[in-house]
Amino acid sequence: MAAEPFDFSPLFPPGLPPPAARWSGAPRYNFTGGNNDPDQIPLDALIAAAETVLRREGRTLASYNLTSGPQGYRPLREFLANKLERDAGISCIADDIVMVSGSLQALDLINGVLLSGGDTVIIEQETYQGALTRLRRLGVDVVGIPLDSEGMRTDALAAELAELRRRNVRPKYIYTIPTVQNPTGTVMPERRRRELLQLAEAHGVPIFEDDCYADLVWDGSRPPALHAMSTAGNVIHIGSFSKSIAPALRVGYIVAGWDVLSRALALKTDAGTGALEQMVLAEFCAPHFQAHVPRLRRGLRSKIETLMGALDRQFGVAADFDDPKGGIFLWVKLPDRVDAMRLYQRALTAGVAINPGPEWSTNASHSRSRMRLCFANLSHEDIGDGVARLAEVCRAEFGVPERIANVKQP
Ligand SMILES: Cc1ncc(COP(=O)(O)O)c(C=O)c1O
Repeated sequence: MAAEPFDFSPLFPPGLPPPAARWSGAPRYNFTGGNNDPDQIPLDALIAAAETVLRREGRTLASYNLTSGPQGYRPLREFLANKLERDAGISCIADDIVMVSGSLQALDLINGVLLSGGDTVIIEQETYQGALTRLRRLGVDVVGIPLDSEGMRTDALAAELAELRRRNVRPKYIYTIPTVQNPTGTVMPERRRRELLQLAEAHGVPIFEDDCYADLVWDGSRPPALHAMSTAGNVIHIGSFSKSIAPALRVGYIVAGWDVLSRALALKTDAGTGALEQMVLAEFCAPHFQAHVPRLRRGLRSKIETLMGALDRQFGVAADFDDPKGGIFLWVKLPDRVDAMRLYQRALTAGVAINPGPEWSTNASHSRSRMRLCFANLSHEDIGDGVARLAEVCRAEFGVPERIANVKQP
């Protein structure tokens, strides 16, 4: 007689997140996630970099952390220190950087260093789902600040900070994605960055700057990082190679003072971020990064034009969006009668995956009819076909768009 399978469930501690769904393959048209363009992975140069670095230093893989210590592979941190100075105006040295397993680990570490249940943090009203779900799981009070075309609205932030002060609440940080905001695609101009820094300083609140899309501003020019502009040393800066090279590598970084880094390192209990990935990146990036990124941007720009064209054709005025300043997403407003959560379910069964707005926002009513579309991973043809199928599903479910490809539907 077959033994009863062992039941682990009574052993699970309280507070675990809900179980993951088993992966059943990618949808035919996948507009979700922060995936990148497969054609833009610089494969030949990565292969050459891997071969060179392994032949030269491969035996150092015998030690945890190679010969660089727990902050990560030193040549990669040195590349980053130069790059951050050149592109973002951040003056730092390799010792001010900790390499992490994707900037998601940076979010976990910084949250671990600063937060406990019942704390308050300020974030952008529309924000990265991965940041939002982490904060909710920690039992933190999340205050969302509305955005406009220049990112987080500092007038609304000032009012919120004043109100929190009146209630004797000192937020633990202000989390912002100032350079190609996820999901709205805005870039905060320098003037507003200054206002944000002034407010943060006046209220004694640090800024948590997530800059993972900063290389993807279409014209390649970006304002200085908040970290660079701060005179108070109150900005923790994180970034990633996910958006500029490849997300599956899982390599990101934190730039902060030793007071914060030393605490984050004590929480980083994985015995080091993947060493081979860091070695290959360092070997690739020093000679090739600056030429690679403009090519990647051009490819992404051409794909977003395909996406915006397909939406115009298939949805007409029913799809409202601003041309983003860079990145891999488009944030789209559909007519009020569209419930994006329901659209997401129906579209998925038709093979089209979208990110429904409410999962990317602290404001349920504002995001109800919005969706985020990642366009980087699909071919131009699939972008067009996927949007056409999405328009059919939307019309069948909500009666909009009334015209598809400028033909009135029965
Ligand atoms: C704003 C933001 N931060 C962090 C991440 C996490 O990126 P990774 O862990 O791949 O570096 C993402 C991914 O999409 C993101 O959009």
